[in-house]
Amino acid sequence: MTGSVPTTTTRREREIGRRRTFAIISHPDAGKTTLTEKLLLYGGALHLAGSVKARKAARHATSDWIEMEKERGISVTSSVLQFEYDDYRVNLLDTPGHADFSEDTYRTLVAADSAVMLLDNRKGVEERTRKLFKVCERRDIPIFTFVNKCDRVGTDPLELLDDVEQDLGMTCYPFTWPVLDGPEFLGVYERRAGLVHLFEKGEHHGQERVEETAFPLDGDAARDHLGPELVEKVREEAELLELAGAGWDQEAFERGELSPTFFGRALTNFGVEIFLEQFLRLAPPPRPRPSDRGPVAPSEEDFSGFVFKIQANMDPNHRDRVAFIRICSGSFEPGMEVTNARSGDRVRLSQPRKFMAREREAVDEAWPGDVVGVLDRGDLHIGDTLTEDGDLTFGGIPRFSPEHFARVRVPDPLRRKHLDKGLQQLSEEGAAQVFYEGSRVGPSPIVGAVGVLQFDVLVHRLDTEYDVDARLEAMPYSRARWVEGEEEAIRRVASGYGRKLVYDGKERPLLLFENDFSMRRTMEDAPELIFHEVAPGAPVE
Ligand code: G4P
Repeated sequence: MTGSVPTTTTRREREIGRRRTFAIISHPDAGKTTLTEKLLLYGGALHLAGSVKARKAARHATSDWIEMEKERGISVTSSVLQFEYDDYRVNLLDTPGHADFSEDTYRTLVAADSAVMLLDNRKGVEERTRKLFKVCERRDIPIFTFVNKCDRVGTDPLELLDDVEQDLGMTCYPFTWPVLDGPEFLGVYERRAGLVHLFEKGEHHGQERVEETAFPLDGDAARDHLGPELVEKVREEAELLELAGAGWDQEAFERGELSPTFFGRALTNFGVEIFLEQFLRLAPPPRPRPSDRGPVAPSEEDFSGFVFKIQANMDPNHRDRVAFIRICSGSFEPGMEVTNARSGDRVRLSQPRKFMAREREAVDEAWPGDVVGVLDRGDLHIGDTLTEDGDLTFGGIPRFSPEHFARVRVPDPLRRKHLDKGLQQLSEEGAAQVFYEGSRVGPSPIVGAVGVLQFDVLVHRLDTEYDVDARLEAMPYSRARWVEGEEEAIRRVASGYGRKLVYDGKERPLLLFENDFSMRRTMEDAPELIFHEVAPGAPVE
């Protein structure tokens, strides 16, 4: 075992020091589900990772909550997967795979202390990886790189790392290097230790931990296992890396500029354990978090945390609503009372749970870096800061302007009340935004979303959770701006072609536009008005 936890003096410091809270960022299909499963396998949280055939079923059992995900085979909601490994407490923030739910992913990344960028060895940095990388970069969080699918002939590894550097401006420092690739992929060379790890191809299709043999590159074992030619090839490649690449710089890594890079084949667990051990050793424990009162250190005695996700009706047997809180300082005890800095209200954090997909386990204590889900009776919103006396606010939970709009109709007017309740709760969860023309009792509400699939989830959830048969009619708008100014001026501007005036749940006016051009022209023509991309007062990234 290479990992070791720093010696700490107090219990609090020890608990903080052993926590690693991270998320995996990738483009769909790079292997995130597979890698997540394998990390859980090594963490003892899963006894058998799904085999190739059973994998889809296993995936539903682990990270999906709602029916639609099963039907579509996509992961819509985020969950937090916790496990212990070698005295570390690992919190893996699972994020939705589909781009249409990226709002949720961006918010979840704010709760992470580091990220693992997973790349397909043939594709390198793809569109969604790039976007998620930018969110991490803005927060200066350290990023690891895992190059997956090395059993397939891919881009030459050096070229791939060069592309990452060109594309993202982040340098890769290979901790491991593939020994052969494509179908011949045998193992990896661990540079700093000078060790070759050879993996056994086993019959278990990656369901169990992989058997491996490790030996120094300079020695008889290497010659026996690899043959002199392959030893020479690995040595040459290692020398090339020393000459061509940057040296290891812990500080540059902690600033997010240098990425420890690993190669592997998640499908059969090749390279997963070496990665996990190095990850735990290098990844930072919870760090001070910026607030409007300056940085809050995790070691501070007073409790603080923020809500980054709200999920209703996770369990059809309990029609409840769970707020996920990332703890930033102090310690958490069930039933404790805190102050919501937004509303000033006292809130009791009751029935805390940690989540292992569908399973919920009671939490009796939690420390900075942990995520707990507490029962929410509607007092909490995404982005809320919770502290002992409500004296500070954490920023940085990103909000996005919707780009798809639809009118919601219910054929049965008697269900209108249920519709309004459902829409209000789902919008508080961040599942969609709700707008009205004039007043709530007026014509049918309008919903806005960043990704169009969010609408499908909305309709499905209105049906299953609120018993409302809702029909959505797409509207031609693709931009929204909240607008401040004289009401008359707003109405005048709104009367132009291709625009629409609506109000959000707090009766703040906003204009919808058909396209960018129409929006820009309107903004230029009305300098007396102030336009906001998201609701005023909400933090933007
Ligand atoms: P995602 O969550 O990032 O979308 O990816 P996922 O893990 O679902 O993996 C996408 C596909 O890539 C899957 O194949 C998976 O088996 C495959 N894969 C993952 N890791 C590796 C690897 O190391 N090597 C190779 N060759 N393939 C890998 P699929 O056919 O789409 O799904 P399935 O039928 O295997 O479930």
